[in-house]
Amino acid sequence: MSTGSRRLDAVRIIEAKRDGRELDDDEVDWIIDAYTRGIVPPEQMAALAMAVYFRGLSGRELARWTAAMVASGTRLDLAGLERGGRLVPTVDKHSTGGVGDAVTLVLTPLLATWNVAVPQVSGRGLGHTGGTLDKLEAIPGWRADLDADGMRRILRETGAVICAAGGDLAPADRALYALRDVTGTVPSIPLIASSIMSKKIAEGTGALVLDVKCGSGAFMTDRYDAEELARAMVGIGTDAGLRCGALVTAMHTPLGRAVGNALEVAECVEILAGGGPADMIDLTCALAEEALRAVGIIDDPRPRLADGRAMDSYRAMIRAQGGDPDAPLPVAPHVETLRAPADGVLRWDALGVGRGSWLAGAGRTRPGEAVDAAAGVMLARVEGDRVRAGEAVATVHASDAARLAGAVDELGSALTVADEPGRGPAGAVLGRLRGW
Ligand code: URA
Repeated sequence: MSTGSRRLDAVRIIEAKRDGRELDDDEVDWIIDAYTRGIVPPEQMAALAMAVYFRGLSGRELARWTAAMVASGTRLDLAGLERGGRLVPTVDKHSTGGVGDAVTLVLTPLLATWNVAVPQVSGRGLGHTGGTLDKLEAIPGWRADLDADGMRRILRETGAVICAAGGDLAPADRALYALRDVTGTVPSIPLIASSIMSKKIAEGTGALVLDVKCGSGAFMTDRYDAEELARAMVGIGTDAGLRCGALVTAMHTPLGRAVGNALEVAECVEILAGGGPADMIDLTCALAEEALRAVGIIDDPRPRLADGRAMDSYRAMIRAQGGDPDAPLPVAPHVETLRAPADGVLRWDALGVGRGSWLAGAGRTRPGEAVDAAAGVMLARVEGDRVRAGEAVATVHASDAARLAGAVDELGSALTVADEPGRGPAGAVLGRLRGW
C-alpha cells in the first residue's frame, strides 16, 4: 500500500514498534484503517498489539491512534443540541469498571436535572465486572438499541440517554478489542486508553469525567498504573477538544451492597428515592460535581437526590427507552446465606465478590451470552463492619440452583474476618486530574 510516494506495509510497522521506533501519522492511520477493512489480517495486528503492549505508544502516537479509531466510523455531532428551546452542553462520565458500580444509573438522570444533556454510550459486562446495559435490561421493556436520531430525540426530551454503541461507532475498536481479548493484550495502558476514548469521542460528548478504578476489582490494581491510565485518557480527551477530567477511585471492595443486575437497579432506585448506601451516594456526587464543573456549573448535587428531582429524571429516561419504572424487577428463586466464620472486623475483596456474582449467573463468559438478570450477591455487612461469628453477612441469588454452591464458595473466599481494621469504603477519591 502506498500513501503518496511512500509504501506502507504491516511487517515494517510491526518491526518498527517491536524495535521501539515511534510510528509516524501515516503508519498509524494506515494500519488502523487497513485492519478495520480486513486488509491487514488478525495475526499481523495481534503482533502489533503485542509490540505496543511491550513498547507502549508516545503521546503523539496515542493521540493519532485514537483519532484513527474514531475516524474508522461516524462521530456523532451533538453541538447545537437544545432542551426546551435552549442550547445545552453535553457531558458524560465513563468508569473503567468495577464491582457493584451502578453509578451511571443514578448519575446520568441526576446530571440531566441541570440544563445539560448526557449522551451515555455504554457496554455490556464481560467476566466479573458488570455492564450498565445488562443492569438496565433487568427493567421490563427497556431497550438499549437506539440510532443517532433516536438518541438526539431522547436527549432533547429528557436530557439523558443510556444506550448501546451503534455498529458505526469506532468499528476499529470493536475489531481490535476482540483480538486483544484472545491475545493477552488487553492490559496495556495505551490500548485501554485509546479503546475507551475512541468510543467516548465518537459519541459526541463535549465534556467527560472519567472514573478510573483502582484495586482488586478493577483493571488497574496498582495506584500508579491507575494514575497513568487517567493521565493518558485525559490527555487524549483534551487533545480531541473535550473538557476532560478524571477521578481515581478505590475499588478494593465492592461499591454499595448490591452486585448483580436487578439487585443493582433496585439499589439505584433506593438512592434516587433519597436512601441507599453512603459510598455509592458519595461517589455519584463527587463525579456529578466534577462533570458539572467541566461545563461551568458549580452546584451541590445532593439536594436533587433527596428531593425527588433525580428520580423524576430517571423515570422519564427509562420510559423514553420503552422501560416501565414501576414494573417489578426479576427476583431469583434460589437464595443462600453466607455467615461470618468468626468475631472480628469484616473485609470483602472486590474481585472475589464480583466472581461470586458472576458464578451465580449475573455475568457472561463469552460475548453475546445471556445473563441472569436476577442473579447476584447482596451484602448485609460491608468492609469495616464489626461482626459476630454466625451472623448473616451476605446472600447469593440465582435462578439456577446448580450455580449456588460454586458462587457461595467463591464469595466465602472473598471474605476475611480478623482483628485488623477495614480498608475504607469503595469509591473513595484517591486522585483528581483536570485537562481544562
Ligand atoms: N474497556 C474498553 O472499552 N476497552 C478496553 O480496552 C478496556 C476496557
